[in-house]
Amino acid sequence: MRVVILGATSGIATATARLYAAEGAALMLVARDAGRLEALRTEMLGLGAAACRTAALDLAAADPHSRLADLVEQLGGVDHIHIAYAIMPAQSLAAADLSVARSMMETNYVSTALWALAAANLLEAQGRGSLVVLGSVAGDRGRRRNFIYASTKAGVETLVEGIAHRFAGTALRAVVVKPGPTATAMTATSPPGRRMASAESVARVARAAAERGGPVQYAPRHWWWIMLVVRALPWWLFRRANI
Ligand SMILES: NC(=O)c1ccc[n+]([C@@H]2O[C@H](COP(=O)([O-])OP(=O)(O)OC[C@H]3O[C@@H](n4cnc5c(N)ncnc54)[C@H](OP(=O)(O)O)[C@@H]3O)[C@@H](O)[C@H]2O)c1
Repeated sequence: MRVVILGATSGIATATARLYAAEGAALMLVARDAGRLEALRTEMLGLGAAACRTAALDLAAADPHSRLADLVEQLGGVDHIHIAYAIMPAQSLAAADLSVARSMMETNYVSTALWALAAANLLEAQGRGSLVVLGSVAGDRGRRRNFIYASTKAGVETLVEGIAHRFAGTALRAVVVKPGPTATAMTATSPPGRRMASAESVARVARAAAERGGPVQYAPRHWWWIMLVVRALPWWLFRRANI
């Protein structure tokens, strides 16, 4: 099993990498912070990874097509590709300063979509493999609290579902995993007392998604039921709800 993880220093991605390492997979961990990558490399080898390479890269600035081919060549091939990076500045900041909104859109949607398309082309060319991309339950509806971030995640979901449709009937898989609120650095400033899933529980869904299930998967899975209700709320009720 050879696995590329883009955004490997994210809380959820690191938990996912640990699962693969414990299975003895060979890993290519990609993120911006070289120091944290080196610490992860040591940890993954300690957990049982067959190999662990790292690449320090700003994924929003790099050229996905050429860089992905290079990363996969260094790993000696690939079976699963996970895309797990994103940023979530405060909605008030992004609404007031459009350069902040632009940076979030470019990181969360434009660059993620281009890496996903590059991954889809690479997997298609080799005729097998899985692509797993992290979306969010936030992408299901435009809520006043975080609709700029949510719109980037809605875009990612549509794109990945489209890739899955393109892969239908082949040995290839594409899945968007949609976590609910999860305890990581991204939610560290959330009000205390808010219920959060653990990064490990979301990672288990992401790991399993590479092998089975549909193209859209909620994590933890009970979010499927919650979002079924939220999506069904009529506008007159939704606009009054402070969710
Ligand atoms: N946590 C939640 O509640 C939650 C809920 C739903 C969906 N998600 C989604 O799940 C995924 C993982 O979230 P998380 O909570 O695990 O995130 P996290 O712990 O906050 O980490 C985000 C990671 O993204 C990396 N990153 C941002 N921009 C990058 C760039 N241009 N190039 C390379 N790396 C970049 C950051 O690297 P640096 O450290 O270098 O900045 C950081 O490691 C994201 O797609 C997020 O939107 C999270």
